[in-house]
Amino acid sequence: MIRFLLNQTLCEEQHLSPNLTVLNYLREHVRKTGTKEGCGSGDCGACTVVLGEVVNGKLEYRSVNSCLTFVSALHGKQLITVEDLRSQAGLHPVQKAMVDFHGSQCGYCTPGFIMSMFALTKNSPNADKEDTYEALAGNLCRCTGYRPIVNAALSLSQETPIRDQFFEYEKETIDRLNAIGLPDLEHHADGKTAFTPTNSNELADILLAHPDAKMLAGGTDLALEVTQFHRDINTLVYLGHVDDIKTVNESETHINIGANVPFTDVYRALEPHYPDFGALLQRFASLQIRNQGTVGGNIANASPIGDGPPLLIALGASMTLRLGNTTRDIALEDFFHDYKVTALQPSEFIQTIHIPKPTPDKAFKAYKISKRFDDDISAVCGAFRLTFDQESDTVTEARIAFGGMSATPARATLCEQALIGKPLSLATIQVAMNALANDFSPISDVRATKEYRAETAANLLYRLYTELTYAKDGNTIETRVIHYVS
Ligand SMILES: Cc1cc2nc3c(=O)[nH]c(=O)nc-3n(C[C@H](O)[C@H](O)[C@H](O)COP(=O)(O)OP(=O)(O)OC[C@H]3O[C@@H](n4cnc5c(N)ncnc54)[C@H](O)[C@@H]3O)c2cc1C
Ligand code: FES
Ligand code: FES
Repeated sequence: MIRFLLNQTLCEEQHLSPNLTVLNYLREHVRKTGTKEGCGSGDCGACTVVLGEVVNGKLEYRSVNSCLTFVSALHGKQLITVEDLRSQAGLHPVQKAMVDFHGSQCGYCTPGFIMSMFALTKNSPNADKEDTYEALAGNLCRCTGYRPIVNAALSLSQETPIRDQFFEYEKETIDRLNAIGLPDLEHHADGKTAFTPTNSNELADILLAHPDAKMLAGGTDLALEVTQFHRDINTLVYLGHVDDIKTVNESETHINIGANVPFTDVYRALEPHYPDFGALLQRFASLQIRNQGTVGGNIANASPIGDGPPLLIALGASMTLRLGNTTRDIALEDFFHDYKVTALQPSEFIQTIHIPKPTPDKAFKAYKISKRFDDDISAVCGAFRLTFDQESDTVTEARIAFGGMSATPARATLCEQALIGKPLSLATIQVAMNALANDFSPISDVRATKEYRAETAANLLYRLYTELTYAKDGNTIETRVIHYVS
């Protein structure tokens, strides 16, 4: 049984297929057709809904793509759709702003924009332009144009939260969500099974008993199997309630991030230590995807163009993997064996990612190159961590990793060797750029040609050199996202 609040109504669903997306549930089962399907693959935002969840006693709202969310993820949450915004008082202030600013023409994208704006007003009542662009970057509109929509969102910015019906019922909603309790361990429907463990021991046992089961974290990769390739997933293990792999903690030397932490929270944990990591994550997919997609899923998916792995490899991150009662630690760079082939054994899962904290002798930079600035996958992603001898400014260690350059995210070892033992000069960088040409043989595909990839990767080294030498002269470099819309 999956129990959740659909706005304020308690739903207890026993017969929903574990492979059913929230989008199809809304449109086909409860006939709430305000939520639209555009792409079915997380790219357009037309299907955006908001999920409310009690976190540390407070209600947190996050926008998600309902086309990529399986119903198994709804247990214990409040699902809010565009139909729920209007109250007896009339249109919700977000809806009214869209009307007042002429933010809708054909209207197909409008429910998605409204829900992203609604989540924004809840999370950042006094949102500035940056917050607004970030919140709306995962929503596409083909006819109105973005300026009226952005202006509508900005008009809502105020010091205090909007006192709407959700504000009024907040305490009651928290009590009702808390009363729902833990999910059932097993849910069977439509010939399929979803397991919902609530701790790592249960998870480990289920995976041992069902080695063919698919782990479902945020689902932003896995759901495409169902929505794009029309494949069935017969046994799912949903990780969203395994609390001990959803935490972030810090030791003196490391930041330890549970595998099931979504990128929105990874950003909060890493940005203060590594601003470049933060800046890159602001360009990772869309906010809807970052609210769902986890760091463990990003690594386990083993895409050669995933953004997390090159950065984590360059930082010297390691992971704890667990199989039954046994754990083992592995360096991230040893995890990727070949295209989509990893070190994970059947029934094994990623438990925690350990990231070394920065030290004064190290510089870290990361760059994402994609066709579109927001909400696009990398053609090339380069990450660089250089360690310097403080006295002589010589490079004593270099960790350089790239995505998009080979079948797996990988280190550029020849390039690294060309830097070690040398001062960071233009001559050294030019040698390293030449060495990089022998590290990889990139391929041409829809995102970039092999020539573009090779040249861009080399130029990123030059950019690294320019930024580091510029910073050394006491200048600061703006690492936050710079938007080009005025
Ligand atoms: C529109 C769109 C844009 C995207 N943009 C980007 C982007 O810019 N950069 C980028 O890097 N990626 C991007 N992605 C890919 C995806 O969002 C990320 O890879 C995300 O981090 C996957 O995490 P998840 O939690 O959703 O994984 P899921 O889809 O739940 O799982 C992915 C795989 O990992 C396995 N898995 C999950 N957790 C574990 C675990 N703890 N242990 C072992 N195996 C596990 C699952 O079984 C599955 O095989 C995009 C995806 C979409 C749909
Ligand atoms: S339908 Fe396009 S993001 Fe879901
Ligand atoms: S109003 Fe038509 S797609 Fe946005």
